[in-house]
Amino acid sequence: MYPRLIISQDKYEHNVRYMQTLCQKNNLTMMAVSKVFCAEKPLIDVLTKVGVDYIADSRIENIQAIDSPIPKVLLRIPSVHEAEKVVKYADISLNSELETIEALDAAAGTVGKVHDVIIMIDIGDLREGLYYKERILDTLRSVKLLKNIKIKGIGTNLTCYGGIIPSVKTLQKLIDIIKMAEQMIGVRFDIVSGGNSSHIHLLLKNQKVDMVNNLRLGESLILGRETAYGDPIENMYQDVVTLEADLIEIKQKPSIPEGDIGMNAFGQRPTFEDVGLMKRGILAIGKQDVDYHEITPVDSRIRLVGSSSDHIIVDLTQTQNDYKIGDVIKFKLSYGSLLSTMTSKYVEKVYE
Ligand SMILES: Cc1ncc(COP(=O)(O)O)c(C=O)c1O
Repeated sequence: MYPRLIISQDKYEHNVRYMQTLCQKNNLTMMAVSKVFCAEKPLIDVLTKVGVDYIADSRIENIQAIDSPIPKVLLRIPSVHEAEKVVKYADISLNSELETIEALDAAAGTVGKVHDVIIMIDIGDLREGLYYKERILDTLRSVKLLKNIKIKGIGTNLTCYGGIIPSVKTLQKLIDIIKMAEQMIGVRFDIVSGGNSSHIHLLLKNQKVDMVNNLRLGESLILGRETAYGDPIENMYQDVVTLEADLIEIKQKPSIPEGDIGMNAFGQRPTFEDVGLMKRGILAIGKQDVDYHEITPVDSRIRLVGSSSDHIIVDLTQTQNDYKIGDVIKFKLSYGSLLSTMTSKYVEKVYE
């Protein structure tokens, strides 16, 4: 059935192994991030087979469902309301709020466990983390006193909200904090988690960042690209996943609607360019599944015209293929479209 994602386990395995080797050469452990594929079993099995150091996901529901002996890391700062689940299902969680860590401590105490945390520092991207100018030492001191919590590491996240590119200079802020904490509080961080797939450009340029010994990698493994500049990584596959959607209507129609223009299905007033008659196709996939701006037809002569909840309209005028009803159009995916199509229950997932 269509729409569907064709997902190559072999290509994913190749990418994971390639990145694992690169990390190992740089003395880095790797947390393979599974959230973009909703921690689906066939790709988790690949991570288990390769033997990555950690599997990381942002959703506790996904972590709970992962069936693998590999240690699991909760990436999103936990909610105080999920503390019990976090200590039960995650081996490590990333944290920035003392109040939440105290809730984790209490929950861990109840089940007789010690829960490992990585303390997140915001060095400028302005998403999660203790802001590096804040009184970070006070928080570390308080966490150190908790009986059922172990400070396993320290980390930072870049290029997620503020688009800040990891550089040796920017990451020096993290290193300064580590040195200060080690000196003044006597904490030792087993894990120094330097970032996500945007860090890879530094590895490719042989720019080693002092002390960083771990990366959390998601997009690079599945889309084969680094995310500081969006460049493909040589020797990795960019087409682990392909989207297929089928044509349910093909008709010659004008390029601008006829009549008085009011609102579209989403309450917006649309505008159109008159390019004359078009061979217009409708695909059985829509906004509910994916933002059409985020997908790229493999047949580069197809133009994407617009979409509504359940339809994407394409312009087939320039293509040399004589598409018929039921024919399948293939698309390359961005991170956003991979995330939404993996999440949509209307998109079938086919593993090969
Ligand atoms: C805290 C954190 N670290 C790492 C990642 C992985 O990022 P990327 O997919 O760019 O490698 C994410 C997002 O999935 C994240 O939220």
